[in-house]
Amino acid sequence: MTDCTPLPWDIAVVGLGIRGIHQMTREVEETVRRCAKTFVTDMALGVVDHLRTLCPEVVDLSSAYRPGNHRVLIYRQMAAQVVTAALESPPVCFASYGHPKVYCYPTTLIQRAARVLDLKVTVLPGISSLDSLLVDLNLDPALDGLQVYEATDLVVRERPLQTDAPCVLLQAPIVLDAFNSGGVPRVDDVGRVQEYLLRFYPPDHWVTLLVSAVHPLLEPIRKGVRVADLTRALRQAPTVSTLYIPPVGSRPVADRELAERMRLPDTGNGNGPPRRPGRPPIGPRAE
Ligand SMILES: C[S@@+](CC[C@H](N)C(=O)[O-])C[C@H]1O[C@@H](n2cnc3c(N)ncnc32)[C@H](O)[C@@H]1O
Repeated sequence: MTDCTPLPWDIAVVGLGIRGIHQMTREVEETVRRCAKTFVTDMALGVVDHLRTLCPEVVDLSSAYRPGNHRVLIYRQMAAQVVTAALESPPVCFASYGHPKVYCYPTTLIQRAARVLDLKVTVLPGISSLDSLLVDLNLDPALDGLQVYEATDLVVRERPLQTDAPCVLLQAPIVLDAFNSGGVPRVDDVGRVQEYLLRFYPPDHWVTLLVSAVHPLLEPIRKGVRVADLTRALRQAPTVSTLYIPPVGSRPVADRELAERMRLPDTGNGNGPPRRPGRPPIGPRAE
């Protein structure tokens, strides 16, 4: 039986995850099924074909990434297509790889246009490249925190970096490439990332360029490189790589009294968390 109840939204913005169709949530799949038309931006194998089994009309937006076009114009065109379709025959779906609120500007543009045009939008999360990175690099941000920056934004604004907290830089190989030029990045551009990082980190500090697997049969690609050699590595890296910079050291406790009350392990008085006899130390690392 067909459910004729109107949906409480005109546009669903959904995340598809990183690993092909294998990280699509049930919630996202159900939502795509309920839409008249789905616009998709995801290069992973089989995603567009799978969506075609769920929705009567699927528009692959990957051709919008024409070299030489300013990225903001590309995103505006995507958002315009989605909003126009929602005005004509809602409900429609915009499906992007990863998480639709993690470095996904079309989502913001769709939300802004929808507000002006009185269209209702629902946004459903997906597994992002940041989620994948935490697993691929075995990182839990509870320990030392986490800094996340966009590479161009980092060098343009000269954002301060804390060397005692891990740092993730998205879009590093395409830094300062507003026009989606493709090909090998310019030495001057990627060189600025290296130059900027050298203001904070020693030249022999090891960082990792990561590409998380976009299919369950693939392995993540992790390439270790010293900050001093980063320019060359960024020129050779796949454009979807994320740069991970581990901390140089850990931040010492500032309030010893509080740390002792919490029985944190690095207060240096042997009064750490309770342990069973003979067990190796686990949990937050000691100084
Ligand atoms: C425009 S953002 C889109 C991010 C996406 N919305 C998400 O949730 O991850 C593109 C950036 O995400 C990161 N990224 C995307 N796919 C990745 C992958 N398979 N492995 C590592 N990083 C990835 C890279 O830093 C890339 O430059």
